[in-house]
Amino acid sequence: ELGENPHYMLKEIFEQPEALENAMRGRFSADGSTSVFGGLNISVQDLRGMGRLMICACGTALHAGMVTEYLVERFARLPVECDHASEFRYRNTPLFAKTLFFVFSQSGETIDTLAAMREAQRKGFQVLAINNGVGSTIAREANGGIYQHAGPEIGVASTKAFTSQLIIGAMLALHLGRIRDMSFRDGTEIVSALKGVPDLVRATLKQAAHIKAIAQKYAGFNDMLFLGRLELFPIALEGALKLKEISYIHAEAYPAAEMKHGPIALINEECPSVFLVPQNEIFNKVVSSMQEIKARGGPIIAITTSDAELPEGLADDVITIPACHEAVLPIVATIPLQLFSYYVAVERGCDVDKPRNLAKSVTVE
Ligand code: M6R
Repeated sequence: ELGENPHYMLKEIFEQPEALENAMRGRFSADGSTSVFGGLNISVQDLRGMGRLMICACGTALHAGMVTEYLVERFARLPVECDHASEFRYRNTPLFAKTLFFVFSQSGETIDTLAAMREAQRKGFQVLAINNGVGSTIAREANGGIYQHAGPEIGVASTKAFTSQLIIGAMLALHLGRIRDMSFRDGTEIVSALKGVPDLVRATLKQAAHIKAIAQKYAGFNDMLFLGRLELFPIALEGALKLKEISYIHAEAYPAAEMKHGPIALINEECPSVFLVPQNEIFNKVVSSMQEIKARGGPIIAITTSDAELPEGLADDVITIPACHEAVLPIVATIPLQLFSYYVAVERGCDVDKPRNLAKSVTVE
């Protein structure tokens, strides 16, 4: 099954364009202005009446939920809360009656996510699932949901299941937006951005050799920071999680502006920072965070978009991804982070597909 690939993780990273196509197949309206889902089991009137979205998940799936939070708030103007499933199940948070409840789980077997779902159901909520494991426990017990159709993911570090959840999250934000205030025109713009994402991912995957060279340069460090803002903050969290899972490098992620509230004390020549710095309304703010790091001798790897102009010499290494719509930027920005952590781990001689202390699905509390 591995074919020419040295590891499942690399195979699955390269399967992402197809996984994204599979997540979208048959899920756009004929007029091309919104997404449609067959299994939500909730009427459009009830969906329109929801006052809040609550998402529970663990690990990488939680990061997908956090990106969805940004997109749903932006596109649908619906307040969203995203919680660790393990916290939700015990913290007994007050829940507003008109809450749309989602769990995200690749395997559909994660015990904390299942328990969060059961707790919400016990309180009378219908819980929907975004899930890749057809026939899984979560799929069977959920009141409805959206299958990812990403195909089996063997590598313990989640890759294609994550970007597949990101695209479904973006489609959900579009769907919720179009039944509220989003115009036909804005809807069609998002649909065409979504349809274009597999090609943007293919183009980004072509940079694997460049990313490998950068990864080899940084593989000897023991600490790294990942910094991003807005919908790329959860992507920074995912970049740090991926790196620690498979390379055992200590990595942390923050919203870039949070640096000056403490983490900047860590910065020196031994602690590189990976910045997600796309062209957007706060590009200059992220650049000034980069300058603060640079002034303290911290090496910088920048992941930026083709329409951005980074000040000359600010980053030590640059990976440029295609300029794209904010609905799909998190997906495209994830690709270099996956490849970076993969090549760092290979360079360090780690067992990429079976990292120490980790299981593919966490079925014990
Ligand atoms: O199967 P799930 O999506 O519910 O799994 C949740 C987490 O255990 C999982 O994403 C974990 O963080 C992965 N090892 C990430 O690579």
